[in-house]
Amino acid sequence: MDRTQVAIIGAGPSGLLLSQLLYLNGIDNIVLERQSREHVAGRIRAGVLEQGTVELLLKAKSGGRMLSERLVHDGVSLAFAGRSVRVDLKALTGSSVSVYGQTEVTKDLIDARTAAGARLMFEAAEVAVAEFDSAHPKVRYRHNGRTHELSCDFIAGCDGYHGVCRQSIPQGALQTFERTYPFGWLGILADVPPASHELIYSNHARGFALCSMRSMTRSRYYVQCALDEKLEAWPDARFWDELRVRLPDEIAAAVITGPSIEKSIAPLRSFVVEPLRFGQLFLVGDAAHIVPPTGAKGLNLAAADVRVLYQALVEYYRTSRTDLLERYSQLALRRAWLAVRFSWWFTSIMHKFSDDPFNHRLQLAELDYLSGSTAALTSLAENYVGLPFEI
Ligand code: FAD
Ligand code: PHB
Repeated sequence: MDRTQVAIIGAGPSGLLLSQLLYLNGIDNIVLERQSREHVAGRIRAGVLEQGTVELLLKAKSGGRMLSERLVHDGVSLAFAGRSVRVDLKALTGSSVSVYGQTEVTKDLIDARTAAGARLMFEAAEVAVAEFDSAHPKVRYRHNGRTHELSCDFIAGCDGYHGVCRQSIPQGALQTFERTYPFGWLGILADVPPASHELIYSNHARGFALCSMRSMTRSRYYVQCALDEKLEAWPDARFWDELRVRLPDEIAAAVITGPSIEKSIAPLRSFVVEPLRFGQLFLVGDAAHIVPPTGAKGLNLAAADVRVLYQALVEYYRTSRTDLLERYSQLALRRAWLAVRFSWWFTSIMHKFSDDPFNHRLQLAELDYLSGSTAALTSLAENYVGLPFEI
């Protein structure tokens, strides 16, 4: 039977980052990932990194390319009622955010792990976690047609919302909190310059729209869509028309269209499980909590979990102290709930929930208030750039 100190399930950003930080601190680990390397590296998801996430990637010695290629954004704009209001993140909080795609974060981490000779198994099938309520958890999986068994001290469940780890915890040991939203986001990626040099979040009577980017030559746009929407119903021309209708005229006129290189639909949900630890199994990132993408918090929250867990594991292996491991769930959940609240609030003021005009008028009043109140804008800005870690 093979052995490691920490078995990490999932090679998304949380699994890869945890693996790299543990490795740099002399802690042996194996990462087991169900999908192929190409699939993991190609998944288009997050685009906005908080400064704390940037710093953790640098600490993981996986931030060199990010520093040279990221776009630092000092503000974002909120568009509504035909106008747009800039939220000056830097002036309001002293902080900025970085635009650098999750695909690039993942590629950099895979490269760093591979260069260090990591045991990073892609296409690991039928991963099963067992005996994690004992001091010697086991992980079984199939790789290259052979069955393997791994013995470890800890299991990190970094396997996302649909992963096996959370589902392996006995029913009744976890409490789940969930809110689904009656809509999704239809997103496209296109090699065209962005409409504006900063992100624009737009509230419109027809539904939400977001102008984002990956670089000054690659744009990422989203429009709110119905949950049962089919991609086939959205040829590029229809997407561009719908996007422009939902933006103030001046911004719509600046949208440069082109063929999409990716198009996908994502449902929106808020989801949290408690606690994040069961015996020697720890839940991390999307396996533990999901937020709607409006606040750009999911990947940042995953990184924040990793930050707490790797420090706790380092402390355990250096000193045998278990107090930080014991506090992992409480510390990570506190930050998670703050992000759940912010993402829910931002989602609720920007999206169309019903045809009820009262709701839309309320949203417009809230946005009107926000745009005239430094206190309200500061509240938005400090959540958007990421709350301090002491909180
Ligand atoms: P995941 O990325 O889901 O990784 C989990 C990994 O585990 C996957 O590779 C999966 O294949 C693997 N796995 C699953 N099951 C198994 C199994 N049984 N065995 C082995 N491996 C398994 N967040 C932000 O911070 N900012 C943003 O701007 C932002 N925008 C977003 C936009 C969209 C459209 C979406 C959908 C999400 C966005 N997010 C954003 C959220 C962010 O992408 C996620 O929070 C992030 O991917 C979580 O990382 P993770 O490693 O925890 O989970
Ligand atoms: C993205 O660029 O994919 C993106 C940006 C901001 C968000 C969500 C997604 O809030």
